[in-house]
Amino acid sequence: MAKKILVTGGTGYIGSHTVVELLQKDYEVFIIDNLSNSHISVLEGIEKIAGKKPHFTKLDLTDKFATEKYFNNHHDLDAVIHFAALKSVNESVAEPLRYYKNNLESLINLLHNMITKEISSLVFSSSCTVYGEPDKNPVNEKAPLKKPASPYGKTKQIAEDILQDSIISVDFLKVIALRYFNPIGSHQSSLIGELPIGIPNNLVPFITQTAAGIREQLKVFGDDYNTSDGTCIRDYINVVDLAKAHVVSVDRLINNKSKEHFEIFNLGTGKGYSVLDAIKSFEKVSGKKLNYILVDRRPGDIEQVWADVSKANEILGWKTEKNLDETMLSAWNWEKKYRGIQE
Ligand code: NAD
Ligand code: WQD
Repeated sequence: MAKKILVTGGTGYIGSHTVVELLQKDYEVFIIDNLSNSHISVLEGIEKIAGKKPHFTKLDLTDKFATEKYFNNHHDLDAVIHFAALKSVNESVAEPLRYYKNNLESLINLLHNMITKEISSLVFSSSCTVYGEPDKNPVNEKAPLKKPASPYGKTKQIAEDILQDSIISVDFLKVIALRYFNPIGSHQSSLIGELPIGIPNNLVPFITQTAAGIREQLKVFGDDYNTSDGTCIRDYINVVDLAKAHVVSVDRLINNKSKEHFEIFNLGTGKGYSVLDAIKSFEKVSGKKLNYILVDRRPGDIEQVWADVSKANEILGWKTEKNLDETMLSAWNWEKKYRGIQE
C-alpha cells in the first residue's frame, strides 16, 4: 500500500516541486493549502509532470476546527511535510502579528492533531535565516543561532523551539527540520515554478522579471561588503534538488532510520556566490544583457552565508545535482514560458 504523506503548503513554490517528487516515488499525496500565496492551477502542472494527481483540500491551518475535522477524516497519514507559512521578510516587519499568528498557530494546530492521531513523522521547513550573520562560513548545524532581523526569521526559530520541546513530551514524535539556504529555479519542464505575488523581494525572480521586461532595472543592494567583488554572498540551491531532500527525509522517518527524535540538516550546495556572480550566470545562460545598477545596501541583509552540507551528504545520503548555471536557466525558462516569451 502506498504511504500517505500530507504536504501543507503543497501548492506553493517548494511544496509543489516536492509533491511532484513524492508522486514520482509512488507516495499518495494529500495537500492542504489555503491558497493565500499560491494558485489552484498549480495542480494541473503537477499532474502533467507526475502523470497523477495529489488529493487537495483548501484549508487554513490556523482554523482549529477545520484542521481537527480534516484530521478526523485523515487519521491514517504516515508522515507530514509542513511548508505552509508566510515567508516575506519585509511584510513580516510591517505586519508582525499576522506572521506570528499564521506561522505559529498553524504549526501548533498541526502538531496538536498529529499527536492526537499518533502521526509520528514530521518534516519541517526551516531556514538559514536562523543563523543570522554567521561567525564563520560555511556554516554548520552546530553554529549558534543569532537573533533574526525579522519577525519572519523569529517564527522559524520559535517553531524549531516548539518542535524541540514537543519531542520531549511526546515520545513517538520524530521531527526533521530542514534549514534551506536560498532556493531558486524551477522544474525542468517549466510546468511549475516560482510565482511571487507583486514586486519580488528575492534576487532571482527580480532578475528574470527584469529580463522579461516586467521590471525596468535590477538594483544590486550594496557593493561595499567585505567580499571578493563587494556584493553579498549566498548559497543558491536548486528547488528540485531541495525537493528531493524532503523525499529522503520522509523515507528516513517512515523507516525509523532517525538517530534522534529531532534532527536538523542544512540544505544548500556548499558553495557561495555573489550577487554579481548570479547576474553573470544569468547573462551567460540566457544570452541577455541584464539592466542593473549598484545601489546602497538593503537594511537587514547578511553579508555572507553559505552552507556546510556535509551532515546532509553523509547522514541523509543526499547531495545537490544542479549547478548555478543550470538552475538559472531553469528559472529563465520558467519565466519565459509563464510570460509567453518566444525567442
Ligand atoms: P510559498 O509561499 O510559495 O508556499 C507556502 C504555501 O503555504 C502557500 O501556497 C500558501 O498559500 C500556504 N499557506 C500559508 N499559510 C497557510 C495556512 N495558514 N494554511 C494553509 N496554507 C497556508 O513559499 P515557499 O517558498 O514554497 O516556502 C515554503 C516553506 O519554506 C515556508 O515555510 C518558508 O518559510 C520556507 N522557506 C522558504 C525559503 C524561500 O526562500 N523560498 C527559504 C527558507 C525557508
Ligand atoms: C539575495 C541577495 C540581496 C534582491 C531571503 C530571506 C531568507 C530566506 C531566503 C526564507 C542579497 C540581493 C536581492 C534585489 C539584490 N527565506 N538582492 N537585489 O535576503 O538572502 O534571503 O530569502 O527563509 O530568510 O531573508 O534572499 O533573494 O532577497 O537576496 O541585490 O532586488 O540578493 O541583497 O544579497 P536573502 P534574496
